[in-house]
Amino acid sequence: MDYPLPVTEPVKLAPDTFLITNMVQLAPDQFLPVNSMLIRGEEPIIVDTGAPIHRELWLDQVFNLVDPADVRWVFLSHDDGDHTGALHEVLDLCPQATLVTNFFTTERLRIERPLPLHRMLWREPGECFDAGDRRLRLVLPPIFDGPTTRGLVDERTGVMWAVDSFAALAPGVVHQVDDIPRDMYDETFAALNSLVSPWHQWLDPIRYGLHVDSVEAHRPAAVASAHGPVLTGPAIHDAFDLVRDMAGRPITPPPGQPMLDELLAGVVGV
Ligand SMILES: [Fe+2]
Ligand SMILES: [Fe+2]
Repeated sequence: MDYPLPVTEPVKLAPDTFLITNMVQLAPDQFLPVNSMLIRGEEPIIVDTGAPIHRELWLDQVFNLVDPADVRWVFLSHDDGDHTGALHEVLDLCPQATLVTNFFTTERLRIERPLPLHRMLWREPGECFDAGDRRLRLVLPPIFDGPTTRGLVDERTGVMWAVDSFAALAPGVVHQVDDIPRDMYDETFAALNSLVSPWHQWLDPIRYGLHVDSVEAHRPAAVASAHGPVLTGPAIHDAFDLVRDMAGRPITPPPGQPMLDELLAGVVGV
């Protein structure tokens, strides 16, 4: 038997800006965040739509904060299942919403199920879209596990959505970087960011460093991500430095069969 889904609540990131939190428990003291975001401005924006296992919890959290009829934008960072969990429900429930994504996400998703092309806006890194009282700029996050991935910066609040970058496990249902013991943060940050982007081993540190610099140059006030804690203050520069340092370094080896054996023996996560 697996762990039950943790009970979580939205976390305020900035005025009218909420992290929609969900988690998966991996061990008694190890929780993987599976977050998305809601910006409840003049034209509300849903940023990613969670994972299928959290769909009902996700829909409750989001639509307790915003009326589906008011949602004007759905920003989809990429086509991975843990970001598209409630996508079709959202498109059905929010008839005023335009889906902001790109060509390749669309191509990859429409082989599973048709998408409303007439309700889409395609944007690429460096481009923007206006949502009433704010402008959202797309960025290419420093770490990503799919070629379609795009992050987002809210130019009004300075909140950055870093998608799959800056992942780290948490010791419980906590969402701030200061709630994670430093050794747990360092160890799980290194492992998860390496697992989702094993290509870091072939990177030229100077060229990659310039890319990471270009993302950090947006000087985010807070960084939220799908699988890591909320970063504020010095933790932001620290996280950018941690990924900068991954260029050209060997990957963190995946756990492999011994971990499956432990799971089956009931030692970890079951
Ligand atoms: Fe992903
Ligand atoms: Fe993800």
